[in-house]
Amino acid sequence: MAVTKADVLAALERVPSPDGTPLSKSGKLSEVVVSDGKVFFSITVDAAAVPAWEPVRKAAETAVRAVPGVASAMIALTGERAPGGARTPPPSPQAAAPGARPRATPHATPAPGIPGVGAIIAVASGKGGVGKSTTAVNLALGLRDLGLKVGVLDADIYGPSLPKLLAIKGRPETLGGTRLKPMEGYGLKVMSIGFLIEEETPMIWRGPMVISALTQMLREVEWGTLDVIVVDMPPGTGDAQLTMAQQVPLKGAVIVSTPQDLALIDARRGIAMFKRVNVPVLGIVENMSYFLCPECGARSDIFGHGGARHEAERLGVPFLGEVPLHIDIREKSDAGLPVVATDPDGPHAKTYREIASRVRQGLSVAGRAAPKIVVEA
Ligand SMILES: Nc1ncnc2c1ncn2[C@@H]1O[C@H](COP(=O)(O)OP(=O)(O)OP(=O)(O)O)[C@@H](O)[C@H]1O
Ligand SMILES: [Mg+2]
Repeated sequence: MAVTKADVLAALERVPSPDGTPLSKSGKLSEVVVSDGKVFFSITVDAAAVPAWEPVRKAAETAVRAVPGVASAMIALTGERAPGGARTPPPSPQAAAPGARPRATPHATPAPGIPGVGAIIAVASGKGGVGKSTTAVNLALGLRDLGLKVGVLDADIYGPSLPKLLAIKGRPETLGGTRLKPMEGYGLKVMSIGFLIEEETPMIWRGPMVISALTQMLREVEWGTLDVIVVDMPPGTGDAQLTMAQQVPLKGAVIVSTPQDLALIDARRGIAMFKRVNVPVLGIVENMSYFLCPECGARSDIFGHGGARHEAERLGVPFLGEVPLHIDIREKSDAGLPVVATDPDGPHAKTYREIASRVRQGLSVAGRAAPKIVVEA
C-alpha cells in the first residue's frame, strides 16, 4: 500500500518536541513530501535550539522509516536566526531567482566538516547557463588527474545535471538502512537528487526542503576518504544559495562567468555572497571565453573575451583560466562523455587540468588561513 502524507504525520504525532508538543503540531515542519515511498521534510528551529532538536530529528527519522511502505526518509534540521533574534521565514525558491538580493540567515555555529573529506568547494555563478555543471565535472576530473580522490555533489535540486553529464543511471544502494552509497563515474564518487527521484517528480519543494535534501546528500552519504568534494551549485545568489553557502562547510568557491558584462555583474554578486559568509573565493573561470571554429580552428571573441580576467583583477581574486566555446565541449558534456575523461590529451582537458591545479594551490593557501564562517547575528 502506498504511503501517504497522513501516514507520515500520524507517525510524527508520536514524536515529542523538546517541550513535549507532538512534532506534527509543533509548527516547525516544512511541507512533508512523499514520493514513491520516499519521504522528505525539514524541521526549522531557532539556531540556538538546534542541539535540543537533534534527538527529535533522529527520533522522527526512526519513526518515519518504521511506517510501512516507507523506503527512505530525508529529514533535516535547519537552524535559523534572523538579525535581532526574530525568526526568519524559510527561504523561498522564488527568492533564489537570479538578481534576487540575498537576505542574511546567519548561523550561530559553523557547519561541521564531513569526516574523511579533506575539503569541499563550490562551483557557482550568479547567472544560469554559464557552464557551472560542465566546469564542475571537468574540474573534478582535472583534480582526479592530479592524483586526488574526488567526489561531486549536485546541489542543483531543481535541475540536477550530474546523472546526465556523467552518464550514470540507477539508484544508490542504501547501507545499513540509513546511509547511501554514492554512485561512481569516471573515478568520481557522485551524489545527485537526480538519482533519488524520478525526473517527472514535480519540484514542489520549498526552500527548506532544498537545504534538507542537500544536507542529507552531503552528510548521510558514505563518501569514504576523499581529498575534495566539488559541489555543483544551482544558479543565482538568492536565499537558497546563501543558506547553502552557510550550511555546507566550504573551503572555497570557484565562480564561473562568461565574458559579457551582464554575466560579470552576476558573478560579482556571487563573489560578494561567498565573501559575506567568509568562504574564500578560489577564483574565476571564464567559460565560453572565445569561439573556436571546429572547421578551421579560427578564433573569434564573440562575447568580448577577457572580461572575467579583468574583473578578477579588479576584485583581487585569482583568475583560474579561460575555456573556449567549443562544440566538442558541448557535445561531449551533454552526451555524458566529459572532455577531460574522454579526450585527456586534447587542448580542453589540458585547460581544465591547469584550472584544477590552480584550485588545488588556492585550497592549500585557504587551508593555512583556516577560514571560518562568520556570524553576523
Ligand atoms: N565551454 C563550452 N563550450 C561549449 N558549450 C559549453 C561550454 N560550457 C558549457 N557548455 C554548454 O552550455 C550548456 C549549459 O552548460 P551547463 O549546464 O554546464 O551550465 P550551468 O551553468 O550549469 O547551467 P544551469 O544554470 O542551468 O545549472 C550545456 O549545453 C553545455 O554543454
Ligand atoms: Mg548546472
